[in-house]
Amino acid sequence: MTTPMRIKLACPEVGDEEVEAIRRVLGSGVLTNGPATRDFEAAFGQRHQVEHAIAFANGTVALAAMYLGLNIGPGDEVIVPSMTFISSATSVLHVGATPVFADVLPDTFNLDPRDVMQRITPRTRAILAVHYGGQPADMAELSDLAQDASILVLEDAAQAHGASYRGRPVGGLGKAAMFSFTPTKNITTGEGGIVTTNDGDLASRLRLLRNHGQTSLYQHAVLGYNWRMTEMQAAMGVVQLGRLEDIIRRKRENATAFGERLRQIRGVTPPAVRPDRDHVYMLYTTLLDGNRDTVRDAMLDAGVEVRLYFPPVHLQPVFAERHTHLSVTEDLSRRMLSLPFYARLTDRQFEDIATTLETVLASVGAHESVA
Ligand SMILES: Cc1ncc(COP(=O)(O)O)c(C=O)c1O
Repeated sequence: MTTPMRIKLACPEVGDEEVEAIRRVLGSGVLTNGPATRDFEAAFGQRHQVEHAIAFANGTVALAAMYLGLNIGPGDEVIVPSMTFISSATSVLHVGATPVFADVLPDTFNLDPRDVMQRITPRTRAILAVHYGGQPADMAELSDLAQDASILVLEDAAQAHGASYRGRPVGGLGKAAMFSFTPTKNITTGEGGIVTTNDGDLASRLRLLRNHGQTSLYQHAVLGYNWRMTEMQAAMGVVQLGRLEDIIRRKRENATAFGERLRQIRGVTPPAVRPDRDHVYMLYTTLLDGNRDTVRDAMLDAGVEVRLYFPPVHLQPVFAERHTHLSVTEDLSRRMLSLPFYARLTDRQFEDIATTLETVLASVGAHESVA
């Protein structure tokens, strides 16, 4: 009997080196707020060519810390995409500010600068540029808008470790940037986040916020939180960072070959990549001509784990009562489908994914009607 095919959506690349690094931390007795956190921050900052990197327990609190550190709060607005993970927007609510949703471009799923421009008000303090799936957003256009309006550009680089825009790594393209390390990301610490910035004062405020506002033992200068990363996570992060270039290289090679294969299939469009930026393919999101839900269900039945990244945030119950309408985001959300794309997938598995998709599309006639 043959085993049914099962191709997972994501698969963290973790080995003996991570186990050994965590074992060393456990043996040292320093489990939080120690040398591994400082090593991880230094290495991460260096890789992204930024002066400061501050590690956090997860990406969501790192975003909230970024806003608090910039004094963004009640009465302020932050422009965010809706084609993102929920916490790009809920973190704005967590600090008492208001997220204002803007539409995205129909091919890269990144913020549409023209739509952003129309949503800037006297209350706007920042634009959160999410680098969707690992492809940097249109930073030059967004930065020009921000400069004209005297507001900030912040990066949600949760999915974009190691990506670059016009030769410069993400993480230093705005006032501050956030990265996440959950297990679907290209590198992971299980849970974890980091904020990067070239602003030394902001970096100091972030360190205070992360550690109860503590300036010296049991002296608390400002309202703070326990948002620290553990030493086990940080030690794992150092090892994972060492794997990043190889993971990105393999993903880029695979994206080229897989894209060519998918272009032979009627009814599916592979990801669009702008020539002036390097995509790191945390996600591999395709667009279908139609019948997306039927295709998704058939792919899952066939053992290929596909997913919708993301059901629009502005339509989630937590935001729905605002009745925002975003035509491009809503259209994309009916047609997009992310395929498995972790770095260790073999040529054979890519061919299995493509063949399954081809068979499913042919059987449901997905190119004939847009669902
Ligand atoms: C775009 C984006 N923003 C924010 C986050 C939140 O990060 P975390 O899950 O580490 O809290 C994620 C995580 O998936 C994300 O993909």
